[in-house]
Amino acid sequence: MFFLRLIFLFVVVFNCIKAQDPVGHLKPLGEQTPPTVPIDEFTIDNAPRPYDFYENYVKPSKAAIFRGAMLDTSGFKLWTDEYIKENYGTMEVRTEGKKEKNSKIPVGVKYLGRDTISHFVDNYHLPNTSMYMVSELPEVMFKEVGVLPSLGACGEMGRRFVEIDIWWNGGGGRSVIHKDAFNQLNCLYRGTKSWKLYEYKYEKWIHKHWEPENEVGGFSEVDVDAVDLYKHPNIAKIPWSNITINAGDCLFLPKSYYHQVHSNGEQNLAVSILFSRFDGIEHIDVSDCTDQTDYKIPRPLSEAGVMWKWCGTGMMSMGNGDFEGEYRPMLMRTIADLNEAGMDFTVDNIAELSGGQDEDDGKLRIGNYDKALAVLDANGDGKLTMEEVQNATWDQLRAYALEVEPHEPSNSYKFEYSYISYDEVKMILDNIIPQYETLTREKWINVYTKMLHGTTNFANQIFTGLVDSEEINEVSTSNLT
Ligand SMILES: *[C@@H]1O[C@H](CO)[C@@H](O)[C@H](O)[C@H]1NC(C)=O
Ligand SMILES: *[C@@H]1O[C@H](CO)[C@@H](O)[C@H](O)[C@H]1NC(C)=O
Ligand SMILES: *[C@@H]1O[C@H](CO)[C@@H](O)[C@H](O)[C@H]1NC(C)=O
Repeated sequence: MFFLRLIFLFVVVFNCIKAQDPVGHLKPLGEQTPPTVPIDEFTIDNAPRPYDFYENYVKPSKAAIFRGAMLDTSGFKLWTDEYIKENYGTMEVRTEGKKEKNSKIPVGVKYLGRDTISHFVDNYHLPNTSMYMVSELPEVMFKEVGVLPSLGACGEMGRRFVEIDIWWNGGGGRSVIHKDAFNQLNCLYRGTKSWKLYEYKYEKWIHKHWEPENEVGGFSEVDVDAVDLYKHPNIAKIPWSNITINAGDCLFLPKSYYHQVHSNGEQNLAVSILFSRFDGIEHIDVSDCTDQTDYKIPRPLSEAGVMWKWCGTGMMSMGNGDFEGEYRPMLMRTIADLNEAGMDFTVDNIAELSGGQDEDDGKLRIGNYDKALAVLDANGDGKLTMEEVQNATWDQLRAYALEVEPHEPSNSYKFEYSYISYDEVKMILDNIIPQYETLTREKWINVYTKMLHGTTNFANQIFTGLVDSEEINEVSTSNLT
């Protein structure tokens, strides 16, 4: 009896302690505080025209939903697995695991984190895979994507598209809470998505993860599946919006707006148009908007200019900069500063000015300033003038950027070399190889792909490298055959 009472007492006390946990502790994100921030909704019929959209939403960083805006586009009507595979199957795309920052990068046909659309379509819905296409959209598909009239029927925003991305998974994909550098219009062509939105002004409560200094992205350390309110108490203070986006709808997500996305259902395909930040721009130019402008029908994206386009093979350009919002004005400011100091914009001067960029942010730098300057130097005199920069075309600015912009490793076929480190490979070699009398190519491929989750392709290349390298032969103390 005494023991029973003791147990009873213990249960009561234990329950009391538990009851004192803050509301929503260790529960999924959203259960800590009810959503209180409404988001304006439109249909294509009452959607604002570009000038008003800029003034009332883009400039003040106010999100907006456009219901059913893409229902009449070819993408919405045509994009089934079969259609996409048949028409675009050979195109390459970038892939990630379904749970952002917390799952393995999938192995594609040949490369890690890079797949053909055809292979993706055959595998993304299988229960034993975790594949999320997070990629630039191949340019051949632009003709089936719609541009929301509020954004691009006419006016300056339609001339400021930086990058076009596709987000596609077999349901269950979820992101961390993060922000993106650019403004974006995210339109869903298949499935439904739940978004949780947090205005940028609450960044101080987001529990931001450390990042290299001049990154404009950023993400929160909060575990969205089980929010630890002792570790991350401030997240519960943020007023937020809980919205659902269905196939055919678009969401305008302002630059730097924090968001967490969950993909519901069996499949989920969105296209996101990233456009300039328009920092400090009071009004946009809409001088080409006329009575003839069609504000009701989305025009095909193929008719719009896009700064960075993906041809479907080779080096991708995800995360690259904005020609009009960054490169051109930055170059002009630099020229003005140099001229003021009585100097010219020459290779020696920019290389020096760009020094100190060697921070450890995981990006690859080439920094070929000779080539970069030559691309813009119209008269070939070795100096860059204000007029040459003003006159530079997007092709020139793109070529310039490719020479001086740091490269995201995941844009390249060589991504695996930065994702799987030399130290990991060496550790495996040091620990595993001595267990084998001879290490055959087959055994090595097996070990490398199972333990480090790399590709057969790279396992092969590394093995070939090892066979040729005496140094590793000695370290491994085994015969390589
Ligand atoms: C958010 O919206 C979804 C979908 O409408 C709903 O299921 C969920 O309960 C909402 N969450 C909160 C905390 O209101
Ligand atoms: C998943 O299962 C299928 C058969 O159902 C198999 O062919 C495929 O290799 C498996 N994929 C992985 C990554 O294990
Ligand atoms: C820039 O463009 C203007 C007008 O098209 C042209 O007259 C001028 O020569 C160009 N300047 C340079 C440096 O290319």
